Amino acid sequence: MRYFLAGLILTVAAVFLIAGKRGEVSRKPSIEIFNDMVRQVKFRPQHPNGFFGNERTSQTFVSGTVARGSHWEDNVVNNGKIPGTTNFVDVIPVAVNESLMMRGRQRYSISCRPCHGALGDGNGITKKFGMAVVATLHDPRIVGLADGEIFNTITHGKNLMGGYGPNIVIQDRWAIVAYVRALQRSRLALPEDVPADTRDELN
Ligand code: HEC
Repeated sequence: MRYFLAGLILTVAAVFLIAGKRGEVSRKPSIEIFNDMVRQVKFRPQHPNGFFGNERTSQTFVSGTVARGSHWEDNVVNNGKIPGTTNFVDVIPVAVNESLMMRGRQRYSISCRPCHGALGDGNGITKKFGMAVVATLHDPRIVGLADGEIFNTITHGKNLMGGYGPNIVIQDRWAIVAYVRALQRSRLALPEDVPADTRDELN
C-alpha cells in the first residue's frame, strides 16, 4: 500500500509537471504525441498557397463546371432523351454535316473499331483475343434503334459493353452515332441509290 500511494503521488505529480493544470494558458507549444495526425503534408482550405498565382489553396471553379444534381443532364443533346420523358430521341439533335461525319469516323476508329471492326460487323482485333460476343452494328435490331439509344449505349454501355461516356465528349458521341448510321447505310443501299446512268452496269 505504501508503494502504491508513493507511486500514485509520483504519477499525479508527473502528469501535472508535463501537462500542467487544466485550462492553464501557456506560451509553449503543446505536446503532440502523434503529431503526424495533426500535421499532415497537405494544404487546408483557407491556408495560403504559393503554388497558385492568387496564393489561395481553394481555387474557384473551372468555368463550365456543373454541380451534381443541377439537372444538367435533362437536355436532349446531353442525354439523348426527349425532354420530360424517358424516350430516346429518334434523330441526332445536333447538326450533321461533313465535318461531324469525318470526326465521327476518326473517333469511331479510336473507340469502337477495336471491338466492332472497321466495318461495324463485330470483327475487331479483340475477336482474335477471345472476345467473340461483340454485336454487329448491322443487326436489323440495332439498325432500328433510335439515335438517342445508340448515344445512350456509348455513354453508359449495355450488357457486356462498358460505357464510354467519360472518355468521349458529347459532341463526339453524336459524331460517332452519325458515322455508325453511315456504316449501316453502306449495307442497306437499294438499286435506286445508284445513279441512273450506271445502274445497268450492276447486272
Ligand atoms: C471492348 C469492346 C467494345 C468496344 C470498344 C465498344 N463496344 Fe459496343 N459492344 C460490345 C459488345 C461486347 C456488345 C454486345 C453487348 C451485349 O449485348 O452483351 C456491344 C454492343 C453494342 C451495341 C448494341 C447495343 C444494343 O442495343 O444491343 C452498340 C450500338 C454498340 N455496341 C456501339 C458501340 C460504339 C458506338 C462504340 C464506340 C464508342 C462501341 N460500341 C465500343 C463491345 C464493345
